[in-house]
Amino acid sequence: MQKERKLIIAGNWKMNKTVAEAVDLVNDLKLSLAPIKEVDIVVCPPYTALSEVSKAMIQSNLRLGAQNMSEQNSGAFTGEIAAGMLKEFSVRYVILGHSERRQYQKESDELIAKKALAAHLASLKPIICVGELLAEREAGLMEQVLETQVRGSLAGLSKEQMEETILAYEPVWAIGTGRTATAAQAQEAHAFIRGLLVKMFDENVARRVRIQYGGSVKGANARELMSQPDVDGALVGGASLEARSFADIIKNSI
Ligand code: 13P
Repeated sequence: MQKERKLIIAGNWKMNKTVAEAVDLVNDLKLSLAPIKEVDIVVCPPYTALSEVSKAMIQSNLRLGAQNMSEQNSGAFTGEIAAGMLKEFSVRYVILGHSERRQYQKESDELIAKKALAAHLASLKPIICVGELLAEREAGLMEQVLETQVRGSLAGLSKEQMEETILAYEPVWAIGTGRTATAAQAQEAHAFIRGLLVKMFDENVARRVRIQYGGSVKGANARELMSQPDVDGALVGGASLEARSFADIIKNSI
């Protein structure tokens, strides 16, 4: 499949996997995905497994991401992890503003924007998540919600930083529910987000930024989703926890 932008498919393992399980999974992925160059492949284990997974990934085509980070660089912030600490493990990407963190940790767009700036200052590429709730979609508020989240979470980024930022459209009603957005619904939301990037930055930036779809992605629906012109990859939860299902998504996308 010829795409304008290189696909980026990331596995968000969420709060799953011991260190030993994480290393096993990465070793399996290394074997099955070794020849693939057409897709940027990222895995995002929990913090506790970053060190060992990082070692297991050396000389592979897999890249490492974290699931969150602090907006602060260091200091008295109990339980937090700074960008510089992630860099110690060759982390290159960091998921920011996942809907679970927006919901359970009450993360605001303002906080996410601060984290995104901190990530860029440490040369980490943020994967910034946005997405509407079912009630918001049903009330006809999807575009309004996405606009607020996109403008708020990207506030203060330069054009250069924006080009190194990945967006993930994850409709909350599709996460972990088995209810995937249709390809047309995903394309509509992605095109809307790209249109916002034109207004906020410019045409060139908007053309370069990759926008992932997330929400019940699996091998069976990956091809149709990835074939949409504005869908540039996937952020995968459940199906990234097993090598076979994650590899299927990647293989079916190229
Ligand atoms: P599922 O793929 O399990 O629906 O999760 C999506 C997600 O939240 C990825 O960040």
